[in-house]
Amino acid sequence: MTRFDPTSSTALVTGASRGFGRAIASALHAEGANVVAVARSREPLASLQHELGARFTVEAADVTDPVAAGTLLEQYRPHTLVLNAGAAPLMRPIQHHTWETFSRNWDVDVRQVFHWVREALLLPLEPGSTVITISSGAALAGSPLSGGYAGAKATTRFITSYAADESERAGLGIRFISVLPKLTPATELGARAVAPYAGRTGRDVGEYLADIGPALTPDDVGKATIELLASPEHTSGAYLLTPAGLSPVG
Ligand SMILES: NC(=O)c1ccc[n+]([C@@H]2O[C@H](COP(=O)([O-])OP(=O)(O)OC[C@H]3O[C@@H](n4cnc5c(N)ncnc54)[C@H](OP(=O)(O)O)[C@@H]3O)[C@@H](O)[C@H]2O)c1
Repeated sequence: MTRFDPTSSTALVTGASRGFGRAIASALHAEGANVVAVARSREPLASLQHELGARFTVEAADVTDPVAAGTLLEQYRPHTLVLNAGAAPLMRPIQHHTWETFSRNWDVDVRQVFHWVREALLLPLEPGSTVITISSGAALAGSPLSGGYAGAKATTRFITSYAADESERAGLGIRFISVLPKLTPATELGARAVAPYAGRTGRDVGEYLADIGPALTPDDVGKATIELLASPEHTSGAYLLTPAGLSPVG
């Protein structure tokens, strides 16, 4: 397995306009990578490009579009692919979901990982490349107020592990890693989830956050991404991410 060499590599990050993705793209850029940042809204991507300067390319695209997946991977052939984009689920108890609201994260998060992982295997990416998919701690614990979110994130983890197996069987030399971050109020998506969970247990947001312990920051996610890329001992597999760091999930 080739070591991560940021100075000679291109990294493509989805959902790079805010939250974890913005921090991951910034961390990769700080390491010297040529970064391709993907999200639907061009303006926040352009503002990050303005902040970071050279070696930062913006692509406004919907990651659920298989044509975007095929076109962008063929064009950039990234050495690092971080599939981070995800939809904010509608927060309400199961009986208040319709099938359409329940399945939102299947339509966005699972569809994205399915299309992009498939293209990464078929292209294929160069030996020594790494594909990181951002799943969620909810994939282990469930998330009773967010409809199909936890199941969708468990499925992205499964797809990632199936791809790792296919890479191994075909001798492609591509690492496939899932990261399962702990819930944090530090992003738009996480902040929207915290209040309903606090309310459900009769606590205010401050009490709820104190109970769940230290919050993961987007910078923690950026640093963990660099750690995974830089260390070959982090083989294909799944890693829980908390403020204490990465730990393998069996
Ligand atoms: N925050 C948490 O507590 C937490 C915990 C565990 C896992 N996660 C996971 O971490 C990932 C990032 O979450 P976050 O908290 O950083 O969320 P966020 O702040 O809401 O950011 C989501 C990003 O995804 C992009 N995006 C959404 N749908 C897209 C689409 N169809 N095509 C292209 N880009 C799309 C958004 O940009 P546009 O809207 O401009 O497209 C944005 O850049 C998600 O997969 C989430 O499920 C979050």
